[in-house]
Amino acid sequence: MNKDTIESKYMEKSWKQEKHQAYKTEQIDKSVEEFYNFLKLKKISGSLLDLGCGNGKNTVYFQKNEFYCVGIDFAKSAIEICKKNAKSEKTNPKFEVASILNYKSKIKFDVIIDCGCLHHIRRSYWTEYKKSILNNLKPDGYVYLHGISDSKENKKLPKHPKKRNWIINKKGHYTTFFSYADIKNLFGSKFRIEKNYEFKSQNSPLTVRAFYIKRLK
Ligand SMILES: C[S@@+](CC[C@H](N)C(=O)[O-])C[C@H]1O[C@@H](n2cnc3c(N)ncnc32)[C@H](O)[C@@H]1O
Repeated sequence: MNKDTIESKYMEKSWKQEKHQAYKTEQIDKSVEEFYNFLKLKKISGSLLDLGCGNGKNTVYFQKNEFYCVGIDFAKSAIEICKKNAKSEKTNPKFEVASILNYKSKIKFDVIIDCGCLHHIRRSYWTEYKKSILNNLKPDGYVYLHGISDSKENKKLPKHPKKRNWIINKKGHYTTFFSYADIKNLFGSKFRIEKNYEFKSQNSPLTVRAFYIKRLK
């Protein structure tokens, strides 16, 4: 079985259903807008890869703000939504059905964003995730990452597993809660975390941890 099979089947179904899920919102997170302002201040422009782009809202947002954008997601149903949304916003980022774990683009990107995807990737596959970042990001390029934090607040939530830092629901959907140290260890010495902070999700009761990470030469 492919490493992604259980998760991609779950997400494929989820994007086909009408059922509300926090990640189906069209609203851009304030933290994503803040990251865009950071890029502007640093005069960073060019190309951007959106990992696990979902309905493509962030891909469309950066494309409208003059980045050349590619959004990838392993759920075909999500990519179909992305294409519709981009068309109605009169913009044209590239969308591809692909897994992050083995994605290799023909170009290297100036910026990679991951908004809520890494926390659905099993920790045993995080090495492949990092390889994918190294394969697709330019030296000196930036990663923006946000995902569910292992914060005290999240530990008080009724569904939190308490003794573990991950949870699998009945249908095999995986979620992990990560700390600053998890991300520092994952990216290691080839990257520098320039900023990290926590914020309350706009669409769920969760606390989210955000990172600005620079790839070193
Ligand atoms: C919580 S949603 C977030 C969507 C979007 N980034 C946003 O901010 O709304 C996570 C997305 O990541 C995708 N995903 C999870 N693991 C993936 C993988 N290994 N490769 C590609 N996409 C993946 C899922 O299909 C889902 O659309």
